[in-house]
Amino acid sequence: MNQKPEKIIIFDTTLRDGEQSPGATLNVDEKLAIARSLARLGVDVIEAGFPYASSGDFIAVQKIAEAIGSETGPTICGLARATRQDITKAAEALKPAAKSRIHTFLATSDIHLEYKLKKTRQDILSIVPDMVAYAKTFVDDVEFSPEDAGRSDPEFLYQVLERAIASGATTVNIPDTVGYTTPAEFGALIRGIKENVPNIDQAIISVHGHNDLGLAVANFLEAVKNGARQLECTINGIGERAGNAALEELVMALHVRRSYFNPFLGRPAESTEPLTGINTKEIYKTSRLVSNLTGMMVQPNKAIVGVNAFAHQSGIHQDGVLKHKLTYEIMDAESIGLTNNQIVLGKLSGRNAFQSRLKELGFDLNETDLNKAFVRFKDVADKKKEITDWDLEAIVNDEIQNA
Ligand code: KIV
Ligand code: ZN
Repeated sequence: MNQKPEKIIIFDTTLRDGEQSPGATLNVDEKLAIARSLARLGVDVIEAGFPYASSGDFIAVQKIAEAIGSETGPTICGLARATRQDITKAAEALKPAAKSRIHTFLATSDIHLEYKLKKTRQDILSIVPDMVAYAKTFVDDVEFSPEDAGRSDPEFLYQVLERAIASGATTVNIPDTVGYTTPAEFGALIRGIKENVPNIDQAIISVHGHNDLGLAVANFLEAVKNGARQLECTINGIGERAGNAALEELVMALHVRRSYFNPFLGRPAESTEPLTGINTKEIYKTSRLVSNLTGMMVQPNKAIVGVNAFAHQSGIHQDGVLKHKLTYEIMDAESIGLTNNQIVLGKLSGRNAFQSRLKELGFDLNETDLNKAFVRFKDVADKKKEITDWDLEAIVNDEIQNA
């Protein structure tokens, strides 16, 4: 019997599904820097890559397993299709981790079966238990995902999940692969799984979703209300096409509205116990790091981490906030690790302060680049009284990355 988690498990897939964003390719050192930041953030599971997909991914998963996969740190996970060669490769890459998970997947929707896999439902019903059992020969912690679950026949899905669990899957993850479902439908799908898969109590229900209709976070919150206890998400919501459910939005929704969600986890509404293990004060830093290293800008009005997320522009709002913050703010900027006004440096700031702020923003410059950037910073600081994080990023991008 699988122990039910007290908290909601945060499974971060920035380095796997997030990296599938067009143009977001990361090298091994960049992946390591992000993995370290995710560990500081307190995610429970880091999906570090897809080891069979490329030698770069294999090495990145192996290095992350070595450097971050300690007994007290996050579980390190590798993705594998439901084939022996993928699973063997994932197991090999994950070996150095103290806590490792193999995440194997196979599609269950008729559309995928007919056009992509050219397989029958019967084929799926025999491959899934075989491959879950095979993964289980390497690790105790096995996750199975029926890809495109959001468009699969629920009755067939129940059969597949029952077999996956019977063969040893400890987490069953329900992906809305193409971001097609609506919150009520997705919640009902999770409820249906809870009610109709006879051995579901032996596994944790997880959800994974894409943002094609902008509904991924809303879908996940409905899923939590109906029994999901693991959320698969990415920093800044990066990922295939319109991206994945955004970690910062999910975590802050569960944090700010915990009295609403508490009863769904069997707690009194007024409980102040956090719903996730995330250190919310690390959110902003991690968001900047991921944006800088992937080159994927965060839209200004992005919830939680956009530059305007805590800005008040209109006179009425500014006046209200000055009288009392609660008039127009539902959370503190400090709760995500933002300094009050984001003004960090000025013309009197020294090289050390400059370097350490750059590090926090994800720029680890060598001596020559640091010198060049510092000269430019002094130049800008002479003309501009207040140097913000956005100015610093522009300086580095102009001076170093576009040189
Ligand atoms: O979107 C998806 O279905 C996936 C699976 C591999 C979980 O990313
Ligand atoms: Zn996905």
